[in-house]
Amino acid sequence: MVKKRGNNEEVKNQVLGLDIGGSGCKAAIVDITTGAFLTERFRLETPQPSTPKAVAQTVKKIINHFDWKGRVGVGFPAIIKKGVAHSAANIHKDWYLTNVEKVLSKAIDLPVKVTNDADAAGIAALRFGAGKGKKGVVLFLTIGTGIGSALFLDGQLLPNSEFGHVFFKKDIAEKYAANSIRKRDELSYKQWGKRWNEYLKHLERIANPDLVILGGGGGKKFNQFSEFIKVDTKVIPATLQNNAGIIGAAMYAHENIKAVGV
Ligand code: BGC
Repeated sequence: MVKKRGNNEEVKNQVLGLDIGGSGCKAAIVDITTGAFLTERFRLETPQPSTPKAVAQTVKKIINHFDWKGRVGVGFPAIIKKGVAHSAANIHKDWYLTNVEKVLSKAIDLPVKVTNDADAAGIAALRFGAGKGKKGVVLFLTIGTGIGSALFLDGQLLPNSEFGHVFFKKDIAEKYAANSIRKRDELSYKQWGKRWNEYLKHLERIANPDLVILGGGGGKKFNQFSEFIKVDTKVIPATLQNNAGIIGAAMYAHENIKAVGV
């Protein structure tokens, strides 16, 4: 579909962004200078079980859909250090200590850079979204199957902050406040909003942010529970919604892989 896009100068600024989540794998080709999508967003279900082999095959299908031959940026739901997964909470356990970058680049034979999915979404939010130009300590949270976090100081990311996994209410926080828990336990927005208020108070004590941005599927519901949030820190919803993870993954790859011809 997208074999050759524009002249070389334009191609240098194009990266396929891919957001691998617990339930879906979403992708688009991104213009990294503007954060805009150059194609429609394409989504496939995350295979279950989400083993490295099965996910690699899904990624291959996505690359084939776009007929993409350039750089690929991936947001992955795990702690990522130098391309290797150091956790596997909402993805198959076989990913633990697997080099995600190597597995995926081998499967698709293209240069791949992988970063934590929430870090990717946060990067996009601070460049192009609700956090654009915000200084100080900004905490971006993505509320979905789990809770992901991205912590910034003056726009600079501190990777793998994992505030969804802080111990809270006898377990990790995402087991108390994720969007999947709201759905599973059929919590009202009042009940869920109160949980978020407690959790945000806890995060205030840990990180003392100047601003909190709520993204992911749960962030989209912000106006339904914002009245229950009574913390000192300013809390705002994300604006790029489902696209942030894709855009940020592409940005990250752009900054970490040299341009290759398409
Ligand atoms: C994972 C994080 C991820 C978040 C959102 C959590 O369970 O530990 O790495 O960012 O889910 O997908």
